[in-house]
Amino acid sequence: MPIEDARISVLDRGFIFGDGVYEVIPVYSRKAFRLQSHLHRLQHSLDSIRLTNPHSDADWAANINELIARNTGEDQYLYLHITRGIAKRDHAFPNPPVKPTVFMMSSPLLTPPDALLASGVGAVSAPDNRWLRCDIKSIALLPNVLLRQLAVDAGCAETILIRPEFKAEGEFMTEGAASNIFVVKNGVLLAPPKDNLMLPGITYDVVLEIAAANNIPHEVRRIAAAEVFNADELLLTSSTKEVLAITTLDGKPVGTGKPGAMFAKLHMLYQNFKRDVMRS
Ligand code: PDD
Repeated sequence: MPIEDARISVLDRGFIFGDGVYEVIPVYSRKAFRLQSHLHRLQHSLDSIRLTNPHSDADWAANINELIARNTGEDQYLYLHITRGIAKRDHAFPNPPVKPTVFMMSSPLLTPPDALLASGVGAVSAPDNRWLRCDIKSIALLPNVLLRQLAVDAGCAETILIRPEFKAEGEFMTEGAASNIFVVKNGVLLAPPKDNLMLPGITYDVVLEIAAANNIPHEVRRIAAAEVFNADELLLTSSTKEVLAITTLDGKPVGTGKPGAMFAKLHMLYQNFKRDVMRS
């Protein structure tokens, strides 16, 4: 239906409590990108909030394909949103359970324009003050909203999050407010480990697979805050931004202040991968 006609109850637990999870899936040439990985991550999010998946993977795939078919545009991005449903306001789960609310929409996929790919984007850093289950793709995004706005207030694109409180380990980088972050030092691509402190990005996986397949030196490990501030290059990845170079951090240039060699290589390989694997 037209988006203006879509309605939910004010008692929906997504609206009242942020009690739900979501997915963002890019569509290239009218085909959902890495659908199985997205459905797998959705299942992890649902399991983590103890909400029964309302659909089988086959049903999700059928619904997703219909959504793609009913919208124009070769490249789209799909937003899936599942909440614990409509019930009298009470923090505890409705008992007996109610039907989950499922919402899906398609929007045009607008990947970064050439000018932005050439210049890179600015970022700011901020303490990661979120909870300890950042692996859940929760619709309760207020911390991410406030953190990302810090970047926008500074005329930047993203906020790089630093966990300050794990004293024994020192300060380390987790991800961006709405993206994953990679660090490049001396030709090595560094990625933080997928744990409870970051969202396991699908684009992150693709970038690491591309690195492995092309003999690009890479390490998955904790990245100290100091390594972020002394990086030769910083990259951000997400389903809608793909791979972007971060060329300033807190107003200072990252490396040369221009997108570097690792960005150029990974961006090219990512575009080749899309063309050869997705569009063929
Ligand atoms: N966000 N980390 C966070 C906190 C994110 O919100 C996202 C993506 C990612 C990257 O994940 P993926 O590569 O699977 O898109 C990492 C989406 C795009 C959003 O909320 O719109």
